[in-house]
Amino acid sequence: MLADAVRRAYGERAGEYAEALGSVSAMAQEDQRLICVWAREIGSPTIDAGCGPGHWTKLLYDHGVAVEGIDMVSEFIVGASVRFPEVPFRVATLEALPVDDGALAAILSWYSIIHTPPHDVPAVLNEFARCIRPNGSLLLGFFDGEQVEAFDHAVVTAYYWPTSAMHHELIAAGFDIVQTHTRSDPGQRSHAAIIASRRN
Ligand SMILES: C[S@@+](CC[C@H](N)C(=O)[O-])C[C@H]1O[C@@H](n2cnc3c(N)ncnc32)[C@H](O)[C@@H]1O
Repeated sequence: MLADAVRRAYGERAGEYAEALGSVSAMAQEDQRLICVWAREIGSPTIDAGCGPGHWTKLLYDHGVAVEGIDMVSEFIVGASVRFPEVPFRVATLEALPVDDGALAAILSWYSIIHTPPHDVPAVLNEFARCIRPNGSLLLGFFDGEQVEAFDHAVVTAYYWPTSAMHHELIAAGFDIVQTHTRSDPGQRSHAAIIASRRN
């Protein structure tokens, strides 16, 4: 099963991933700024969905957000709980978040849907919409591309999404688009971030 392949691939490399990419200071300054500004606006409770090593979860926590990090890879959850013992983390999937309908002020999904097969992305966005209260916020980070297309990500197959196609999926799931950011650094994949608001 595909989810099992993603879980296994990250499980085997969770320590290496956390070492290389598990600190906010190693992240692009634009991303740090975007997430910090967003963190000041969103309120609580919030979930970092697909938190990986948990560094962004900790950043939200440090901004006073009541946040929980969830990830389907138990190795990440164990590691994040050791590094950031004050922050709650648990094993869960994007497809079935452990929260009641409309219970969340916001969800951070930072590069966590990049491995989701494109035909399954609507179900994940619908799940986010189920959990976020009206006017609540979703911040989605992903790889920007000219078409929805698979590529060989260092860990396991991932997908590029054009921002226009992601807008379409978000609107269909019950969100309004608030902000769209794209960034292209020479020799690197292009990045996209969308802030969307749960429609009333
Ligand atoms: C590229 S990493 C990003 C991790 C973290 N958000 C960051 O910015 O470093 C993708 C993460 O999403 C998680 N993930 C992917 N699909 C998932 C799913 N269906 N349910 C829960 N977690 C998932 C992976 O385990 C991994 O931790």
